Amino acid sequence: MQTLDRRLFLTSAAFLMAGCDQVARGKPPGGPVPPLRSVSPIPVGCCLRTDQFADKALIRLLSRNFSQITPEWEMKMSYLIRPNGQLRFDAADRLIAFAHDRKMAVHGHALIWYKYDAPQFQRLAKDRTAFLAAYRAYITQVASRWKGRIRGWDVVNEPVENMGGSLRDCLWSRVLGEDGYIVEAFEAASRADPKALLFINEYSLEKIPAKRKTFLQLIERLLKKGAKIGGIGTQTHIRNDMPRGQISAAIRDLASFGLPLHISELDISFRLRGGLATNLDAQTETASELVEAFMALPEKQRYALSFWGARDKDSWLMQPPFNDFPGNQPLPFTNDGNPKPMTAAIAEILRQHR
Ligand code: XIL
Repeated sequence: MQTLDRRLFLTSAAFLMAGCDQVARGKPPGGPVPPLRSVSPIPVGCCLRTDQFADKALIRLLSRNFSQITPEWEMKMSYLIRPNGQLRFDAADRLIAFAHDRKMAVHGHALIWYKYDAPQFQRLAKDRTAFLAAYRAYITQVASRWKGRIRGWDVVNEPVENMGGSLRDCLWSRVLGEDGYIVEAFEAASRADPKALLFINEYSLEKIPAKRKTFLQLIERLLKKGAKIGGIGTQTHIRNDMPRGQISAAIRDLASFGLPLHISELDISFRLRGGLATNLDAQTETASELVEAFMALPEKQRYALSFWGARDKDSWLMQPPFNDFPGNQPLPFTNDGNPKPMTAAIAEILRQHR
C-alpha cells in the first residue's frame, strides 16, 4: 500500500499532466440549456422525498434532468425505525419504484450516521455482544431490502468531527470503537448487498483541509484493516466565495486512493455582497471548477454528480438555522424550474466530456 503522501503527489502530477481542457470559467454558453442527463456521460443525481411526489412541476424537472436519486429522508435510521422498534419501509419502497419507473439509479443514504441512533441500541450499550448483533441485524435488514436495486450506499455518514480535529464521538463509536463501528458497518452492508458500491460520506472536505486530512487518514487506516470501502462521498455543500483552486485541490486529494468519488450533496451558496449578478457569476465559476476537476478524473472514479435539491425553494438551506444569507440561491434551478447560469456551464462541461 503506497503511503498517502506518495499517492497525493502522483495524483497531483497526473492531474496537472492531464491538461484538462477547461471551459472558460463562469462564462456559460448561450442558447437553451439541454437536460443535464441528456448531455452527461456520468449519472447526475438529486435528492428526493415522497412528499414531493405531489409537486408535478418538480417531478417533471427531476425526470427530465436527473438519472439518479438519493432519498433525502426516508432511508435514514431516524425515519426507518419506529418507536416500537419495527422498521417502516413504505416510503423508501415508493422512492425505489419511482426511480425504477423512470430508469433512474438509486443511491442509498445513510445506513449509519452519528446524528441518529435509537432506543433499541441505547438499551444495549453496556452489552457489546448484543449491541453488535443488533447493529449488524439493522444494517443487514435495511441493505438487503433493496438488494440489487441500490447502485451505492452511504454506509457511514460524517465520521469526522465538525472541524476535523478528531473522529465523531457517538453511540456507535463508544460501543464498537472509533474505527470498529465503521469496519463492522461496511462488512454487514457488503454481505447484505454485495453488488452495491459502499461509500463513506463527509462534508466540508473542500473548505477545511485539516478535516480532509483526518478523513483521508481514517480511510487509509480502514482500508488497511480490510474495510470494504468502495467509494468516497464528498457532500460538497460549498459557497461561491471559495478561493479558486481550493476545490480542485480537494478533488485531487480525495481521488488519491483511486476509488470512485461521489459529489454527493452539491449546493453552492451565495456569500458575496455584490448582488445577484455577482453571486451568479461566482457560483458559475465555482461550479465550473468543481465539475472540470471531477470530470478530469479517470472514468472509473466518476461515480456521480448529485445535487441536494433541484430548485432553490427545495433546499434544506432555506430552513433555519442554515438560511443565514438573505437571497441565497444554492441550487441548479430557479423556483420556476429555469436553469441557472451555473447549470448551463455544468451542462457544457459534461457535454464536452462525453
Ligand atoms: C438534511 C435534509 O436535507 C434535511 O431536510 C433534514 O432536516 C436534515 O438532513 N448532510 C447529509 C444529509 O448527509 O442527510 C443532510 O440532509 C444534509 C447534510
